Amino acid sequence: MTIDHTALPDDFLWGTATSAYQIEGAVAEDGRSPSIWDTFSHTPGTTDNGDHGDTACDHYHRWREDIDLMRRLGTNAYRLSVAWPRVVPGGDGPVNPKGLDFYDRLVDGLLAAGITPSVTLYHWDLPQTLQDRGGWPVRDTAEHFAAYASVVAERLGDRVHHWATLNEPLCSAWIGHLEGRMAPGLTDLTAAVRASYHLLLAHGLATRALRAAAPGAQVGIVNNLSTIHPASDTPEDRAAALRMDGHTNRWWLDPVHGRGFPADMREVYGVELPERPGDLTTIAAPLDWLGLNYYFPQVVTADPEGPAPRAVLVRRDGVPRTGMDWEIDPTGIETLLLRLTHEYGARRLYVTENGSAFPDTVRPDGTVDDPERRSYLEDHIAACASAARKGAPLAGYFAWSLLDNFEWAYGYDKRFGLVHVDYSTLARTIKASGHRYAEIIRAHGKRTGQAD
Ligand code: IFM
Repeated sequence: MTIDHTALPDDFLWGTATSAYQIEGAVAEDGRSPSIWDTFSHTPGTTDNGDHGDTACDHYHRWREDIDLMRRLGTNAYRLSVAWPRVVPGGDGPVNPKGLDFYDRLVDGLLAAGITPSVTLYHWDLPQTLQDRGGWPVRDTAEHFAAYASVVAERLGDRVHHWATLNEPLCSAWIGHLEGRMAPGLTDLTAAVRASYHLLLAHGLATRALRAAAPGAQVGIVNNLSTIHPASDTPEDRAAALRMDGHTNRWWLDPVHGRGFPADMREVYGVELPERPGDLTTIAAPLDWLGLNYYFPQVVTADPEGPAPRAVLVRRDGVPRTGMDWEIDPTGIETLLLRLTHEYGARRLYVTENGSAFPDTVRPDGTVDDPERRSYLEDHIAACASAARKGAPLAGYFAWSLLDNFEWAYGYDKRFGLVHVDYSTLARTIKASGHRYAEIIRAHGKRTGQAD
């Protein structure tokens, strides 16, 4: 597919994305406390090979080198997350100046390199101490999150203008509390629904806190959405697809757009929401932008006896897949960008993550050739440009990820980076897909023709 650069604005943000626990390492340095991911990944049987983020990519010490990689890729933006347990190790209460200093240096380094920082406040690393006090299923956690958001914005808000409250609350609530495949590893529907509610409340409270601490802050939320297709045309499968759409997409989008929690899904879950007067207004605080993380479409069938949403993914044969076994369908990113535009009235959109894992190797000549990731990247960027051509107000694209990193329960074997990391030496090597991304960015800068 060709990329129609003329559909994308001149000041388009071309970025890469990472998250704190996946790359930083230095988990016990400079006053950082354990997060639920330290606890979970050190619990036997939770991650492939027993992998954990203790060292990860050692970005905490190598961040200068990593900024240099961003420059070599030609990116003009970088999406990072701040680790709550570095900044407020107790979850609430005293601030750890050394934790803030790290992000302060990083932001200054990015700006000096001409790279716009986009800061996400929560990418799943809840301080363990708050988990011990009930975690996301309890309301206090949302209040503490807003206080932590203020602390970060007060320190960085003079230089950071682009803020996201939460990354993929779906994963925190559903995968962490219902499916048990992520921290904190629970399989409890009531806890999951309560967690989902408090995560969205935390988003609304933090939005207000960010704007108070950093007037002019551009605030958004990042959701991982999917296109959902019924496996067959039967009424059962069509109803299953509607439930999966509610579970994956509408539960997270409707409340922040002032539509409340979808009634059909409230019935499917059958769990009373811990609602208080005014909460829905808080959750629906107007946003400056919406972030879309897109990876794969979902084909689903009914699972009447299964857990909510009583729908499961079907594995279709003969469909191209990534190393995660996820189907590849670039049209999905276009469909979702247009859905956010037309159904939710989005005024500014970013693709805050998009990428693919494949098993890469460094060749004897020191290069990494990753043709499948290169095609994935090109085809998805082309689909983004097509969405923009059709009216989606797309302002940026962030490739997931800058570096190979700790892919949560899958550990280090699943490599998403545009830059390869050798975990024994921590050496970084730009992959062919990274070089291709640099070319795409350069072509956009020149905008000499219709396409490249
Ligand atoms: O690595 C994750 C990231 O932390 C959140 N979005 C999906 C990525 C790939 O699974």
